[in-house]
Amino acid sequence: MAAIVLDGNKIGAEIRAEVASEVKAMTAAGIRPGLAVVLVGNNPASEIYVRGKVKSSEEVGIYSEKHTPPDNISTQALLDLVIDLNRRDEIDGILVQLPLPPQVDAKKVLMTVDPAKDVDGFHPVNVGFLSTQRPGLVPCTPAGIMEILKRSNIPIASQEAVVVGRSDIVGKPTAMLLTNANATVTICHSKTRDLPGVCRRGDILIAAIGRAGMITRDFVKPGATIIDVGMNRVTDPAEFARLFTGNPKREESFRTKGFTLVGDVHPEVAEVAGAITPVPGGVGPLTIAMLMANTVRAAKLRRGNPVPELSRV
Ligand code: GUN
Repeated sequence: MAAIVLDGNKIGAEIRAEVASEVKAMTAAGIRPGLAVVLVGNNPASEIYVRGKVKSSEEVGIYSEKHTPPDNISTQALLDLVIDLNRRDEIDGILVQLPLPPQVDAKKVLMTVDPAKDVDGFHPVNVGFLSTQRPGLVPCTPAGIMEILKRSNIPIASQEAVVVGRSDIVGKPTAMLLTNANATVTICHSKTRDLPGVCRRGDILIAAIGRAGMITRDFVKPGATIIDVGMNRVTDPAEFARLFTGNPKREESFRTKGFTLVGDVHPEVAEVAGAITPVPGGVGPLTIAMLMANTVRAAKLRRGNPVPELSRV
């Protein structure tokens, strides 16, 4: 039986609508949440992401501003910009788009963002809050993964969850959120012995590796829920054939565009999984929705208003 497709566009739209109504109420009470996005240089992928973040802010009624310093900016000049944003009361959220150019000390920049305005949840203070279950700001993609699971009524407590990938941005915080929600969590990576065997333990399998279609059917427990965080550009025809032979729609678009986007999960997994997020249209839309939610959350937290315990606004 084919897996249920978990529709990230629909869940993302639901969350953005909830955020919009919160923003409306806050704005009427004289507190309009504000987001500052910093985009250094002109990385094409970053430009697309930032455009989406600014557009979504406008749609939900969040005040937003974009700062675009040049590619050759010094660490100190970027720190000065962040410090200025930290000081400004109408700015509740600060997001420095990654990657930063090599001459910039990225860790220093992220450490300088006021933890109360750190809507990416990357500051070590927020990492510590997450690890010790205190209210703080949680990284957007992991928070979005939890929303997909909860809003799709996928059980988490007492389930085996396997996270493939140990990045600071996705793998580690996702494992922490699942642990906090009472799953039994295994984090695995490229050095894990018998990776397919470990993955097959997962009632929930999170793929956040960054390798096109690496998770094949032999990694998957029949009926498991699969969350595919990957977003890989495939241009090699042999690799394309391994993933999409017999899929006329993809073949047509690969022929015309010369590339296709694929997650970390091979399409054949849909034949064994119970539920699965598509790429595109799965986790991606949740990342921006949770950034909006985090900006509202930051606006409340900063003013000492109580916020719900987990990832909700
Ligand atoms: N670049 C890729 N993903 C992200 C993200 O979640 N936040 C930021 N700031 N930059 C990114």
